[in-house]
Amino acid sequence: MARARKPASMPVSSGNPCPFLRALVAEGLLDDGVEPLSKVASTVARVARAGEGGPSLPPAAIWAIALIAHGLTPLTLARTAREGLRLSGLRDGPLDKHGAGSGILDPRGRVVERELARLDEFASEQIGTSGQSERGLTLPQIRRYMDTNFERAEGRRRALDRKLMDGEWPVLLKVMGRDGSGGRYLSVADVRTLVIDRALPKRMTQALAAAA
Ligand code: HEM
Repeated sequence: MARARKPASMPVSSGNPCPFLRALVAEGLLDDGVEPLSKVASTVARVARAGEGGPSLPPAAIWAIALIAHGLTPLTLARTAREGLRLSGLRDGPLDKHGAGSGILDPRGRVVERELARLDEFASEQIGTSGQSERGLTLPQIRRYMDTNFERAEGRRRALDRKLMDGEWPVLLKVMGRDGSGGRYLSVADVRTLVIDRALPKRMTQALAAAA
């Protein structure tokens, strides 16, 4: 499949399992080491605004997610609030579903092509506002994808994992989605670019540069 652009350049640690944060590191928007929670929140909100229709993600909600990412004990929460988010140390924290998600990234951060191909099985042909046709997932299709991911993880999942998913793929749809004749959809090509190239869609990096 044709790629939208060349890979982003900054190296990303295998300890970061979030495809979106991996792209922000590779794009040079966040450091792979430690970042203050306020910077993580404002950067994510700024990137979201560069999406189609200027989606808004409340920085306070991002801040709260980042706060709990390394653990929920009072000591860990205090340390995360003080020191920030360690992007290379997100594995094994409360947000890590330990394989109960898409499986698109393996535990070492490598792309599993057959899982990426499986995402396409939940997609259908979408017509964008400018008339282009491409494979993509609408919100109902994303929900079916997440339900199936949760079902197949029976025996090795927490009930919380299904709730966590609602803060992942649907949020990616909000941020990176495109408006189509059948409603907003997440382009399969854009997801491939995000996970394989660790890059945002070109239209978003252009919007970010224009807003700078
Ligand atoms: C501070 C903010 C964030 C933190 C700490 C975070 C952390 C994580 C972690 C630990 C995972 C791995 C979960 C797993 O085991 O599957 C993950 C996955 C994911 N995150 Fe994030 N994330 C953040 C923000 C976002 C945002 C803003 C988006 C969308 C725009 C996003 C989209 C995703 C997606 C799509 C997955 C993949 C789920 C799967 O493979 O099933 N994340 N995130």
